[in-house]
Amino acid sequence: MISVGIIGGTGYTGKYLLEFIKEHEMIADYAVYANKSAGSKLLDIFPELLGVIEDQTIQSVSELSYNHDFYFVSLPHGESLKYIPTLLDKGIKVIDLGGDFRLDSKELYNEWYGFDHTSANLLSQKVYGLADVENTLISNSKFIANPGCYPTSIQLALIPFIKNYTDSIISISSASYSGSSGAGKSAKTELLLSELDGNIKAYNVNKHRHQPEIEQELTKVGMKSPFAFTTHLLPIARGIYSTSTIHLKSVIAEDEIKEKYLSEYANSIFVRMRNVPPELKWVVNTNFCDINISAKNKTAVITSTLDNLIKGASGQAIQNMNKMFGWNETLGILKQKEN
Ligand SMILES: NC(=O)c1ccc[n+]([C@@H]2O[C@H](COP(=O)([O-])OP(=O)(O)OC[C@H]3O[C@@H](n4cnc5c(N)ncnc54)[C@H](OP(=O)(O)O)[C@@H]3O)[C@@H](O)[C@H]2O)c1
Repeated sequence: MISVGIIGGTGYTGKYLLEFIKEHEMIADYAVYANKSAGSKLLDIFPELLGVIEDQTIQSVSELSYNHDFYFVSLPHGESLKYIPTLLDKGIKVIDLGGDFRLDSKELYNEWYGFDHTSANLLSQKVYGLADVENTLISNSKFIANPGCYPTSIQLALIPFIKNYTDSIISISSASYSGSSGAGKSAKTELLLSELDGNIKAYNVNKHRHQPEIEQELTKVGMKSPFAFTTHLLPIARGIYSTSTIHLKSVIAEDEIKEKYLSEYANSIFVRMRNVPPELKWVVNTNFCDINISAKNKTAVITSTLDNLIKGASGQAIQNMNKMFGWNETLGILKQKEN
């Protein structure tokens, strides 16, 4: 049994960490650390969790205790950097749900995140934790950078294709759609209901921070082609839907491609291959990513969908923690949750 610290546990992703931890048979206790909400009661922040979790006083990150066995860090970008180096120095295992360590190069942080990375030496020590793709490094890791929500949906959709057919690919284009919770809970005018309702728009075109993350990881599995990525905001709170279109040099039979996907995900409990394009509502409130592939002539279209707060964040983080400790990877997260 372990004790867990959740740094940034009062945010949108923090709420699901709390719910999963409550269900988790190997976690004895936990404490929540935050910023503005420090000193408040946890159930005042999450009244909907009355009867689900026990109440406690939220502690300030400025008085962070290093007495827990394990930490989730779920802070806005640029903030994790302040705590993770010390945790690692003390030999404590950590998962960062944010983007501060996902990229491999310090220069990419200057370019895409606009800050000078002060712990660049740790970028090579992290393991990028895409939990549903076979990677023995995860189970041996002390420090995992949990993938972003869009990158999870796109990598799971594209990795089997790239691994098997990279030389046949001319180009890949992914159009992704997200609900507003992807931006966290801090107030922003463009996320007001009155702005979102009845609307849809592309945003951060050619400058979304998840682009270098996706390109970095897909290059590692063999991607050689150009990759385009366009994000859209949907008038809903939860979920991500990605449609990836691959233009091919020659025809590849759809059945053959489907076999490769089934083989890649044969042991992946949380990736479900579908015979038809998946629907968002099939995965909201779950740790599943549902995928469909269709190929015709020289074009393949792969649709993938997941819950940004669970498979795209907290659920995948719990799955990675389970792997780091050698536990069953489904502990705490398999139960299908009610909407
Ligand atoms: N939302 C998603 O769909 C999603 C998916 C994947 C990854 N992520 C990543 O996960 C991280 C958390 O996202 P979120 O959506 O849960 O964010 P959020 O709802 O905005 O919550 C942020 C948390 O960080 C704390 N915090 C904010 N500023 C802080 C500071 N200066 N010092 C210490 N604590 C501070 C907040 O505490 P107070 O409440 O006390 O201010 C809160 O607990 C981000 O890096 C995000 O990119 C999010």
